[in-house]
Amino acid sequence: MCRRGAEGRQRDPREERKEETIFQPGASLVKYSPARQIELVLMPKVTELHVNGKTLGVDADSERSLLSVLRDDLDLTGAKYGCGEGQCGACTVLIEGTPTHSCLTQVGRVGQKKIITIEGLEQHGRLHPLQEAFLEIGAMQCAYCTAGMVMSGVALLRRTSNPSREDIVRSMEGNICRCGTYPRIIAAIQRAAATSGGAK
Ligand code: FES
Ligand code: FES
Repeated sequence: MCRRGAEGRQRDPREERKEETIFQPGASLVKYSPARQIELVLMPKVTELHVNGKTLGVDADSERSLLSVLRDDLDLTGAKYGCGEGQCGACTVLIEGTPTHSCLTQVGRVGQKKIITIEGLEQHGRLHPLQEAFLEIGAMQCAYCTAGMVMSGVALLRRTSNPSREDIVRSMEGNICRCGTYPRIIAAIQRAAATSGGAK
């Protein structure tokens, strides 16, 4: 170890600057470290997402959740924040057709993948058959879970046009309804399967 004391060396004026975090254009985060004099911590930005058939421009730190970018930046508020821990399914969207908890998905990991939200189900002014079935059967009470339920149900119907009750229950395991409308949710999925032979 070097035995030279602090007074034995000339003080670098940059050391008097305390550690601080500042933001600069082109970088999400710039951190100043006296020990290293300067340390850049760059978090790449996400500049576009493919949502509901469109390429949308965004300006988001890659570590943000997809749910936050959809809701706060793109005003697609159908997906809901429930638990934020991947437990309730209120935030479910489809990524390349797979039901995904957007609260746990870092937006930087989505890349070029295609995202479908509840807002993207309507086609030419018509609701998706499963949305129609939810309304006809009244498969909701407070409706906080409904968008997530519909997205998981749509994914199921795309995989299986005539799912059994067991298929439905298994596929909806990642979605919780605190109002307990499960029997009507199952009935809505069965009705959509019967009336549309599955759905798009
Ligand atoms: S909010 Fe994403 S799973 Fe609950
Ligand atoms: S309808 Fe209220 S949580 Fe499902």
